[in-house]
Amino acid sequence: MGSLSDETVNGFFNPSETTGKVITCKAAVVWGPGQPFVVEEVQVDPPNKMEVRIKILYTSICHTDLDAWKGLNETQRAFPRILGHEAVGIVESVGEGVLDMKEGDPVVPIFNGECGDCVYCRSEKTNLCEKFRVNPFKSVMASDGKTRFSTRDGQPIFHFLNTSTFTEYTVLDSACVVKIDPNAPLKKMCLLSCGVSTGVGAAWNTANVQPGSSVAIFGLGAVGLAVAEGARSRGASRIIGVDINPDKCIKGQTMGVMDFVNPKDLKNPVHEKIREMTGGGVDYSFECAGNLDVLREAFLSTHDGWGLTVVLGIHPTPRLIPLHPMEFFDGRRLIGTIFGDFKGKSQLPNFATQCMRGVVNLDGFITHELPFSKINEAFQLLVDGQSLRCLLQL
Ligand code: APR
Ligand code: ZN
Ligand code: ZN
Repeated sequence: MGSLSDETVNGFFNPSETTGKVITCKAAVVWGPGQPFVVEEVQVDPPNKMEVRIKILYTSICHTDLDAWKGLNETQRAFPRILGHEAVGIVESVGEGVLDMKEGDPVVPIFNGECGDCVYCRSEKTNLCEKFRVNPFKSVMASDGKTRFSTRDGQPIFHFLNTSTFTEYTVLDSACVVKIDPNAPLKKMCLLSCGVSTGVGAAWNTANVQPGSSVAIFGLGAVGLAVAEGARSRGASRIIGVDINPDKCIKGQTMGVMDFVNPKDLKNPVHEKIREMTGGGVDYSFECAGNLDVLREAFLSTHDGWGLTVVLGIHPTPRLIPLHPMEFFDGRRLIGTIFGDFKGKSQLPNFATQCMRGVVNLDGFITHELPFSKINEAFQLLVDGQSLRCLLQL
């Protein structure tokens, strides 16, 4: 391979000599819940029919990787495993039947795939796909129930979220790979793989935020701040950020958050404060912390009669939502979103174009950059609330 150009894929890719062969490369393997990543040599099989093998150029860490790494949810406990679902890369080779991509194409993996053919994909009402929707039980490839990763001595290594990006090479179903504009700035395109698409899409597609409306965002990580950017670009007139980490106030101010509330500074529940600030409650609230008590506060922070709360956080415990059914009679609504309701393969390329045109500002989301070998450090930055996205270069 030639040297990596900073921004775009142009001039980077040389035709592959690895097509059809097993590739030995470096991957960050997790051997058990909460155990440090071990960057070690693994073997990556060639893609099967309708699969794609990609060379990862950049990957970043999302809170969902953190939950899976901790093994919080029993269903996520498939180890050894290659985690990671936010990345940008180039196609190394394609399996039989893949017609929409070829060697050298720049691509973004999507954990919420789009086969284009099932009853869900053919419906305009959903971005779920019968075969490639998010399934925490799934840790093998759909076509044959096997893994494409193994250790040097042949032990299978499990996949994660249809993607597994903490590796130099990965194999995905083509339904989970989106081709992007070769002129797109690659590092920033990594953000579209999960966090930014989820947040902006929640504001645009799920809530359909209207100009002049008010918004409260609970949890100002990359996902929450992407909601802020989505709401700003739609002309929201008030964007309130809520976080228990005061540093997020400073960061949030540079990224569209107009007011900041730290629940720890308050004697009363945060929804009371937000209702007071907004004359009865916000039009939309977004839960981006993955915490059920926060979800209740987000729900109660909206205006009765029309308030809408969108759940973006992943809640890894079996606990149920702390709401009484009668509370819905006040006209507040609650809805969940996966991948910001974007249909990945058909709608992400246009979203990428809008980002490139500046409709959505991607500056500010990449707070750190490290070499892939420092993945444990990068994880710690997210655990400590210091980073939004730390980009790992492979
Ligand atoms: N109240 C308010 N904010 C909170 C609380 C709380 N009780 N607990 C945590 N937070 C804040 C954290 O301080 C942090 O700023 O929520 C934010 C979460 O951000 P990240 O950890 O950076 O996570 P992110 O990648 O943005 O994902 C957010 O969406 O995709 C899901 O699983 C993901 O649940 C996670 C959420
Ligand atoms: Zn994610
Ligand atoms: Zn489908």
